[in-house]
Amino acid sequence: MDPKALIEAAQSARAHAYAPYSTYQVGAAVLGGSGRIYSGCNVENTSYGLTVCAERVAILKAISEGEREIVALLVATENGATPCGACRQVLFEFGPTARVLLSGADGTQKELTLDDLLPDAFTLRK
Ligand code: THU
Repeated sequence: MDPKALIEAAQSARAHAYAPYSTYQVGAAVLGGSGRIYSGCNVENTSYGLTVCAERVAILKAISEGEREIVALLVATENGATPCGACRQVLFEFGPTARVLLSGADGTQKELTLDDLLPDAFTLRK
């Protein structure tokens, strides 16, 4: 997997972030099992709890286009932040072994696995 295309997609999406309340812009890109890339940005709401994270926008776009497996997720932020807990659980549904890449505005990059981020995730499976 070449992370370059994921970084470009996430950074482009980050430029579309709708974040007038927090002013914290997030871009995400996921690589689906088909090889296609889907991107997303955070979309805030004046009723704050309705805000949707960039990661979930990207994952749900992929699933709604027919993907059933997420191979990798890249998150682009100012500070190289990790995905929130809710997004980790949604990623676990479709990519329990997904690679997770974090990218900061200064170009810093870090790679983790979802298992690093969400050990002992909730599952109905044994
Ligand atoms: N946010 C994300 O997009 N992804 C995360 O994993 C954590 C937080 C967004 C939500 C909100 O628009 C802003 O970042 C500040 O919390």
